[in-house]
Amino acid sequence: MTAATTTAATLATIPVDIAGAPYEVRVGRGLLADLAGQCGARLRKPRVPVITDVHVHAAWGAAVERALEAAGKEPAWRILPPGEASKSWSELAATVDWMLAEGVDRGDHVLALGGGVIGDLTGFAAAIVKRGCRFVQLPTTLLAQVDSSVGGKTAINTAAGKNLVGAFHQPSLVLADLDALATLRPRELAAGYAEVVKYGLIGDAAFFEWCEGNGRHLLEGDVAARAHAVAVSVAAKARIVAEDERETKGTRALLNLGHTFGHALEAETGFSDRLLHGEGVALGMVLAARYSVRRGLMTGQDAGRVAAHIAAAGLPASLKALGLDCDGAALVAHMLHDKKMDAGVLPFLLMRGIGQTFLAKDVPLDDVAAFLDAELAE
Ligand code: GLY
Repeated sequence: MTAATTTAATLATIPVDIAGAPYEVRVGRGLLADLAGQCGARLRKPRVPVITDVHVHAAWGAAVERALEAAGKEPAWRILPPGEASKSWSELAATVDWMLAEGVDRGDHVLALGGGVIGDLTGFAAAIVKRGCRFVQLPTTLLAQVDSSVGGKTAINTAAGKNLVGAFHQPSLVLADLDALATLRPRELAAGYAEVVKYGLIGDAAFFEWCEGNGRHLLEGDVAARAHAVAVSVAAKARIVAEDERETKGTRALLNLGHTFGHALEAETGFSDRLLHGEGVALGMVLAARYSVRRGLMTGQDAGRVAAHIAAAGLPASLKALGLDCDGAALVAHMLHDKKMDAGVLPFLLMRGIGQTFLAKDVPLDDVAAFLDAELAE
């Protein structure tokens, strides 16, 4: 099924001003149906390499094919199984071999059509083929549109953990087509919405308030609400990555709000469908807020607003409700494998209020374990 309009309408264009590698994110409708027009001279050859997964191909393959054919081009498809398992050494090697067999040169663009898995894998392959070729992100999930397609983090998973091998490699263009969101399952949409809420909590209290008033409309399909949320989120991310592309200055680390708690919960649930990444982030943000209250940083009223909005979006807002069979120390043990661990210190993103997230490097892990024990029991 495709929901694409025939006429492309760009509703927002957001520059990502990375030194030496600037590009723009276009948010709009009908962008995939106008793919060749949107990519313009980036598509230099008659065959255009497109990497996607089975589900996205079923939803968007025909539209992409028509869009390329209208410009006298044809897609060379690489269609992967859906899911996190595709972010592997073996799939990376096979994808790189395929790109080389397709004759991809440094100046060529490979298209990444899909969610975070496809974007991360394609971006990493593009980073290493011939020491770097170009790629365009065509994110089809809300999570990929507001987070993973922007900022140039690319990676695969290894036996030691998620996203432990990768590169910073910026795309040349990101097309966030709101029509693609029409085919998402409600659960997947809500999980992506957690990353939207994150931008409000990080540094934009007014946007969090907008989410409280409009999140329901967004989740129910209101395109204007979706356009606003994606544009505001991407603009926030663009500002952050332009300032701190390589996550060395503390600014980009703010994007990890909810991720340390969330990662531990994902690890405890086996990185399975039991808890999607965005759901882990949602509950992680509630826990970060509640832990900030415990540390005397945030008011209980603000933390209550965070939990209430996460719950209203249909996302997990209570640790006890997750029904885990573990204690706080076990969750903290997962955190020790977090790639943000630095010389024995695990930085935490805490809040002084809504829109006032900061990086704390003095959080005692035994206190976090005691906090989690209390949350598991509550
Ligand atoms: N998803 C976090 C980042 O891009 O830095």
